[in-house]
Amino acid sequence: MIYLDNAATTPLDEKVLKVMLPYFTQKYGNASSLHSKGREAKQALENARKTIAKSINAKPSEIVFTSGGTESNNLAIKGIVFANKENKEKNNIITTKIEHDCVLNACKWLEKQGWKVTYLNVDKKGFISLDDLEKAITNNTLLVSIIHGNNEIGTIQNLEEIGKICKNKGTLFHTDACQSYTKTLLDVKKMNLDLVTLNAHKIHGPKGVGALYIREGIKITPLAHGGGHEKGLRSGTENIPGIVGFAEAVKQMKKSDIKKMTKLRDKLIKGIEEKIQEVRLNGPLGDRRLCNNINFSFEGVEGEAIGMMLDAKGICSSTSSACSSKSLEPSHVLKAIGLSEKEARGSLRLSLGKENTEEEVDKVLEIMPKIIERLRKISPFDKLINKVVK
Ligand SMILES: Cc1ncc(COP(=O)(O)O)c(C=O)c1O
Repeated sequence: MIYLDNAATTPLDEKVLKVMLPYFTQKYGNASSLHSKGREAKQALENARKTIAKSINAKPSEIVFTSGGTESNNLAIKGIVFANKENKEKNNIITTKIEHDCVLNACKWLEKQGWKVTYLNVDKKGFISLDDLEKAITNNTLLVSIIHGNNEIGTIQNLEEIGKICKNKGTLFHTDACQSYTKTLLDVKKMNLDLVTLNAHKIHGPKGVGALYIREGIKITPLAHGGGHEKGLRSGTENIPGIVGFAEAVKQMKKSDIKKMTKLRDKLIKGIEEKIQEVRLNGPLGDRRLCNNINFSFEGVEGEAIGMMLDAKGICSSTSSACSSKSLEPSHVLKAIGLSEKEARGSLRLSLGKENTEEEVDKVLEIMPKIIERLRKISPFDKLINKVVK
């Protein structure tokens, strides 16, 4: 089996599992308990907080653990909005058209409650325009929320420049860094970030755990009320095995892994372009693309069909983000970069993890051209889609 869907989720690193296991069986204390088992869990919690904080140049006190990216994004956006709801003038949020669904749907929900949301366009490679952002920020803008590395097409936004604009305009700045975390520089001070969403399962850590960085002094209203855990910002007994695993996953992501994934990414992109006619790479090339993301549109073929045939050969891929692949709608990200419905439906994402090898890439490059050729010969997709689109 060749697993190339690491943007959806990654296999757990065995070293991470080893570090987690004792926290299920022997070190099972509740971090709020005062006895030795509780103190042991609390110590592990605080050590993990230090690791996560250090990795983004933040203070440990600025990290709140959550159940993952979805919760962190909701807490960031709704928490800021609710904390400022008395200030009627600040009723605008700015985001982009290529956010993950958990940001877009939180924003759509807020729109229904009366807040105004501006959705910035992106260019053909998926970048926002800094000019557009500057113009969009008004006295009414409370928060700018812009994804760091895009989960579908890999575009990495220029957070340093966006941060400068937000600082000059006095607007809060949040980023969803679930896909970019540990894969490219993320520095809350350098980038002037006020809130950052992180999660563990995209970096060979466990599912169901994440964090939100909240700059010291920023007021945020919690979404869950209870025992006052995480300084009252996220009540609920802390998931100690998950949190310990999250921190270990961060420690286990090495510069050499990034280098390896970048090399494999570029080999796959070059190989597909050389071996298959009429393909279009979605997203940019080089440093501004996530080191593990490959996304192509294949003329005259449906992505779903390619994915199914690859699966039959033991290769896991994805037609859009895993969270929305149940919907038949073509991806909002691909539409936002200007793809026609036909091009969007003909797209496929391959996403690498640190465990992929050069041999696996060679195998994919051997199998894929044959699949595309076969599908192009037999597929009525072109005729069908023309009918649907017309
Ligand atoms: C960019 C981005 N944000 C948020 C999420 C949601 O994270 P989680 O699955 O931890 O809730 C994902 C995962 O699919 C993602 O790729």
